[in-house]
Amino acid sequence: MKRFVILLVVVALIALAVPIANLFIGNPKGTTVTRSAASDDRLVAVATILETKCANCHSTEAQLPFYAAFPVAGDMIRGDKQAGIREFDLVTELYPTGKGPATEPALAKIEYVAQTGAMPPARYLALHWNHRLSDVDRETLTPWIRETRRGQYATAKVPPEVQALAVQPLPNSVAVDARKADLGKRLYHDTRLSGDNTISCASCHALDKGGTDNAKVSTGIRGQLGGINAPTTYNALFQFKQFWDGRAGTLAEQAGGPPLNPVEMGSNWPEIIGKLEADEAFAREFRQAYPDGFSQQTITDAIAAFEQTLLTPDSRFDRFLLGQVNALTPEERRGWDLFRQHGCQTCHVGKLLGGQSFEIMGLRADYFKDRGTPLTDADKGRFNVTKNERDRHRLKVPTLRNVAKTAPYLHDGSAADLPAAVRAMARYQVGATLPEADVTAIAEFLESLTGTYQGKPL
Ligand code: HEC
Ligand code: HEC
Ligand code: HEC
Repeated sequence: MKRFVILLVVVALIALAVPIANLFIGNPKGTTVTRSAASDDRLVAVATILETKCANCHSTEAQLPFYAAFPVAGDMIRGDKQAGIREFDLVTELYPTGKGPATEPALAKIEYVAQTGAMPPARYLALHWNHRLSDVDRETLTPWIRETRRGQYATAKVPPEVQALAVQPLPNSVAVDARKADLGKRLYHDTRLSGDNTISCASCHALDKGGTDNAKVSTGIRGQLGGINAPTTYNALFQFKQFWDGRAGTLAEQAGGPPLNPVEMGSNWPEIIGKLEADEAFAREFRQAYPDGFSQQTITDAIAAFEQTLLTPDSRFDRFLLGQVNALTPEERRGWDLFRQHGCQTCHVGKLLGGQSFEIMGLRADYFKDRGTPLTDADKGRFNVTKNERDRHRLKVPTLRNVAKTAPYLHDGSAADLPAAVRAMARYQVGATLPEADVTAIAEFLESLTGTYQGKPL
């Protein structure tokens, strides 16, 4: 009996000590989160909130509090830190270049969490009640999110209230040198870029197939199969990086890849340039725009110029965003609401509904284990570029623009249709099992993202 009382007292003391302790322990102060904000008063206020209430689990710098030494609490804390940092790294997302501006997905993630109250996790708030985001916090975070968006990412010439949204309409055009774009268009469709004159960029990125080949994986020269699903070239200009693993920084750099890839076009620059030079009429025209003539640099520059014209504005969804409520059916609008309720826009963000970050495939359940087929190099994703363990299975979030035209889905082409892709996302990225009616509504919403190319529906 006496021992029981002592035990009770000890437990009560610990229970009391933990919350009291966290008033002064476990708040990392002066980490990179706030230090990097020093030159910007506005950001200092934002960073202070995030450092106090989020950095414990979303930064690699956070120190574990003393009670992490206790068995159960310790496991919970370490588990939360590990899971938290996989999803969202405050430092790299707030200061992607070392000083900012915050990435577009970071803004959407913080906004989502502030709106839904999903973070910090409820079990953590039970002990750290003072870490809940307050109304004052929200009044600091929300205007910063909206203004950063308007200043950095929003589509020009649309109303300011639209510019404040996580998802943006596509612009109708971007400035491009028309003569170079025209040359690039011909090169994009030119099979002389391949070793055996059978394959052009358009073989795998057909403009009448949503900018893809509608195949699970692509077929290159001599019938060779590639290892990953071909993404669309439409609107690719707005992506922060190119390729599923982001190994190309620009469209021109990207366009230098396929011609040399032995599985895709299997050629080399001297051979390509030789073939193009032999076409005197084309060579003459090319020199009018590029006086130095054909080279890897000029050929890829022209192709990139063409890709700047591969815009698909004026989808029904864009018209809806710009105020035409009836551009979407009630079921599609329900799909759009569900899309936001489940936080899909925290990754599928901006003009493209994607293309701005690398995210782990399988955040909430092990996708690769469930798939059951052997892991491939392509599955490693961003890891292939950085060799950083944190980047294993991190893939560039694909755009959802024109997604109804680009089946099959996912980097391995494993989802045959939109409902299958939506179910996979709910399970592996959101951690929710959706009723079939909701899957259908979201899939219908996704169909409203089909835009127009040169005035015609895709
Ligand atoms: C106690 C640790 C902890 C704290 C504190 C915390 N998070 Fe999290 N966070 C997690 C974990 C764990 C996950 C993974 C999902 C889950 O388990 O709910 C997560 C997931 C997320 C996600 C992914 C989307 C989602 O809603 O699940 C975002 C965004 C996020 N956190 C932002 C924040 C922000 C912003 C704060 C501060 C207001 C914060 N978190 C505070 C642990 C934490
Ligand atoms: C044999 C099929 C094939 C050919 C030919 C081909 N591509 Fe691709 N393309 C792919 C595949 C597959 C990927 C994804 C590869 C990866 O991410 O590792 C890709 C990726 C891209 C991307 C990046 C899109 C994104 O969302 O990251 C662009 C842009 C692109 N290709 C343009 C071109 C251009 C321009 C050419 C011609 C010079 C070309 N492709 C030739 C199959 C092909
Ligand atoms: C944590 C980030 C994240 C969230 C949240 C997320 N996605 Fe994704 N989404 C991805 C990534 C990464 C891929 C690519 C995965 C792959 O190819 O293996 C993807 C792929 C897709 C695709 C396939 C696109 C294509 O061209 O292959 C669809 C459709 C999609 N997501 C819809 C959704 C919907 C709907 C939701 C909300 C229910 C959602 N996503 C939530 C990151 C996310």
